[in-house]
Amino acid sequence: MSASGLDKNTRRNSGPPTSAVIAGLGTCLPSKEIHNASLVGELDTSDEWIRTRTGIESRRRADPAVSVIDLACEAAGNALRSAGVATVDGLIFATTTPERPCPAGAPEIAARIGQGNIPAFDVSAVCSGFLYALATAGSLITAGIADNVLVVAAETYSRIVDPADRSTAILFGDGAGAVVLRSGPPDEPGALLAYDLGSDGTGAHLIRIPGAREQATGERWFAMSGRKVYLQAIDGMAQSTLRVLKDCGWSAETLDQLVPHQANARIMEALAKRLDLPPERVVCELARTGNTAAASIPLALADAAAAGRLRPGHRTVLTTFGGGITWASAGLIWPKLTAVTSEI
Ligand code: COA
Repeated sequence: MSASGLDKNTRRNSGPPTSAVIAGLGTCLPSKEIHNASLVGELDTSDEWIRTRTGIESRRRADPAVSVIDLACEAAGNALRSAGVATVDGLIFATTTPERPCPAGAPEIAARIGQGNIPAFDVSAVCSGFLYALATAGSLITAGIADNVLVVAAETYSRIVDPADRSTAILFGDGAGAVVLRSGPPDEPGALLAYDLGSDGTGAHLIRIPGAREQATGERWFAMSGRKVYLQAIDGMAQSTLRVLKDCGWSAETLDQLVPHQANARIMEALAKRLDLPPERVVCELARTGNTAAASIPLALADAAAAGRLRPGHRTVLTTFGGGITWASAGLIWPKLTAVTSEI
């Protein structure tokens, strides 16, 4: 994929005078942790290979009784508590692993967390799902359609990766994250200052989950051309980050924290080098979660904030790349908030 291809297919929004502000952050992880050592018995791999090639030490696996909607409801409730609000005007749910193709999960999440008849719908943009949903929710707010919106991302990849495929079974984990967005002035910390969203459907074959027709012919599991995605992810996130930096009026030197999609520590290291950022300014928090697809950015935000790496006032860019192919980034000054986290 060429640089010009990425540029040509990108839509940007520098933000009208009223902004959408991140006001609360919640997460939920399954309590069951699967260490590399327990995969070694099942696959032709080693703890050393997984650590050095991916940075992953363990990942979470949801109990069979726990659905992706259960994880989403927990994270959403935690985000509401973090924001100190009881109700929102809308809910957007990002997932690659829905309970079923129809109906969408968002209305059920809204009902289960006591939000009544608010507009609620799903977004499907794979690992870019959280940022696509964030931009959509932000646009509902800046268009005056909603005052506050819950953005929820949850995944149960443990149910769709082939347990016998060593190139994917080691990478992915289950988890959920959510934020509350509300209207506010653009100069308020937490205001989304710029977005960058894009896609390239010519890469649709690179990350796939079989549909009903393919399943009928025996194809069942998630599949990824790991090496190709690896290289495109570095390029795609670097260029998308640069576009958002420009729209925010910042430079890489003045950026405090880059929070990339948590797919592979080596992708993040290469991204840091490409942007000339020291490692301490790139959040890498996947060691104990693995790649949680759409949920990875809010989970990383909560971990980085808890560790004191991400602090109020930090110039922050969130960036992601995933199936579709899709990519997305957003820029904001990190606000003062306390993430609420739980395990299930
Ligand atoms: N254990 C041991 N060896 C493994 C392995 C494992 N778990 N998985 C793959 N290998 C082997 C391959 O079979 C290959 O062997 P060969 O040289 O004999 O053919 C060798 O390791 C190198 O494979 P390669 O695919 O080039 O490795 P890599 O350094 O690219 O790492 C991934 C593989 C999957 C970890 C990496 O490509 C990746 O992280 N890709 C993108 C990940 C992602 O999550 N993307 C999501 C959206 S951005």
